[in-house]
Amino acid sequence: MDMNQRVALITGANTGIGRITALALADRGYQLILAGRSLERTKPVLDNIRRLDKAEPLFFELRLDDLDSVRACADAVLATNLPIHLLINNAGLALQRGQTRQGYELAFGVNHLGHFLLTHLLLGQVISSAPARIINVASRAHRMTNNIPWEHLREPTRSLTGTKEYAVSKACNILFTKELARRLEGTNVSCFGLHPGVVATDIWRATPFFMKPFVKFIPMLTPEDGAKTTLFCIESAEPSQSGQYFANCRVAKTTPLASDLAFAEYLWKFSGVACA
Ligand SMILES: NC(=O)c1ccc[n+]([C@@H]2O[C@H](COP(=O)([O-])OP(=O)(O)OC[C@H]3O[C@@H](n4cnc5c(N)ncnc54)[C@H](OP(=O)(O)O)[C@@H]3O)[C@@H](O)[C@H]2O)c1
Repeated sequence: MDMNQRVALITGANTGIGRITALALADRGYQLILAGRSLERTKPVLDNIRRLDKAEPLFFELRLDDLDSVRACADAVLATNLPIHLLINNAGLALQRGQTRQGYELAFGVNHLGHFLLTHLLLGQVISSAPARIINVASRAHRMTNNIPWEHLREPTRSLTGTKEYAVSKACNILFTKELARRLEGTNVSCFGLHPGVVATDIWRATPFFMKPFVKFIPMLTPEDGAKTTLFCIESAEPSQSGQYFANCRVAKTTPLASDLAFAEYLWKFSGVACA
């Protein structure tokens, strides 16, 4: 291994914003670790990266709806002994209903809890690789909630479309970013949360039939444009901006809920218990 090689781990890079982010980072010379549900579906991205003829990419299976899979993925990553300079918590789902293997609401479990555990398990390696960054891909959809229904996070999705639960999960991404940044002060690891824009990706695959006529008319960015704020947070955001939320490649306002440090601390404790 080239000791000067920068290493980036990204979740959900077989498609969408993650795929473009991974290709851009590989092109800039990062060694990529892709963590996703399916090697078969990730193979075209791995092949694209190999064609750049830079560092050999790695793939590890990761099912964020199963905390045992998250633990196995983290173990496999740590067994490589590679440093982790960038951890990009990108994977996510929307407009879906259900429960994770451990019984958590699906969007909360996949979008927040799985990434919370993955980050927690890899944190020592990230800190020892500093300067390093952790990027949490959130969403402006966090604006659609003004509370976290703690009592419903251990139940199947209650809303008909999963939209409310998606908003909660994305508010959790922002709160997690804030608390993580606070806890990492002085480590030279900075954390950023972001909204990528409304982007034409597979995230819309589960749109219920009665919403499809409306979704069709929403103007959407290409995945290439959708990856710009992630790349901005990786390359251009200042370490002094750690903990902040970005949209359109600049700091953006969040809601009172998503900026509430007491909520952020409570979410951290709640998530720790959930993953124990
Ligand atoms: N597109 C938008 O308009 C938009 C707007 C705001 C925020 N975002 C956020 O941007 C991020 C990337 O989304 P995208 O738009 O690029 O969507 P996408 O094309 O659907 O990609 C989502 C990725 O997440 C993975 N994923 C889903 N469920 C998973 C699970 N249980 N375990 C592991 N991986 C899982 C998917 O893997 P599979 O292919 O195997 O399902 C896929 O690789 C998400 O966090 C999303 O919330 C997107």
